Amino acid sequence: RPGAQEWVPEQAGTDALGEAAHRCRGCELWGPATQVVFSSGPDDADVVLVGEQPGDREDREGEPFVGPAGRVLADALEAAGIGRERVYVTNAVKHFRFTERGKRRLHKTPDVAHVRACLPWLEAEVAAVRPRVVVAMGATAARAVLGRSVRIGEVRGRVLDPPGDAGAAHEAGAVVVTTHPSALLRLRDRSGWDEAFDSLVSDLRTAAQAVV
Ligand code: URA
Ligand code: SF4
Repeated sequence: RPGAQEWVPEQAGTDALGEAAHRCRGCELWGPATQVVFSSGPDDADVVLVGEQPGDREDREGEPFVGPAGRVLADALEAAGIGRERVYVTNAVKHFRFTERGKRRLHKTPDVAHVRACLPWLEAEVAAVRPRVVVAMGATAARAVLGRSVRIGEVRGRVLDPPGDAGAAHEAGAVVVTTHPSALLRLRDRSGWDEAFDSLVSDLRTAAQAVV
């Protein structure tokens, strides 16, 4: 593969991968970002959770899901009864993509080319962890994990077979697609929020139960 491939060490564990990712120049996103944001969680996890890309807070702290979306995710995992020791958390794209508006840095969705460039990292992580299930949160993650574009509404909450070589999860036991937790942050009214949260929790439970 093009992109990140030449920086990805072979047969490496997740710590070695995270170390090597600091040197990655697989696409132009490393330039404006503060640092690479790799992953958190044990490499014997049975669930791998995949987000889109680090946000502003994650970029500053160097850890995935430590900002507002991470709060939603933590609450949803707890509601689903999934202990943190069981999950390895990562992103489809490892550098924060943003545009500057004065002093603010606004999230900018990664292009398909960024997802493709960064795919060797995710593929190597799944190969290292060999989880029973990979959960793709949102459209960008689903594209990386499955290697094709899907409509979240059509596939969410079902236990899918692992993809072929085009998807990063080909060494996982199964795949579950759900919404991205940050989608909840845009919901204003309470009932809409509750419904979206319950659906996220239900999809996470489905994923956890796919683990036998
Ligand atoms: N959103 C993501 O997709 N990933 C993070 O790490 C934080 C927010
Ligand atoms: Fe490498 Fe991914 Fe960062 Fe691009 S986004 S430089 S491919 S780690």
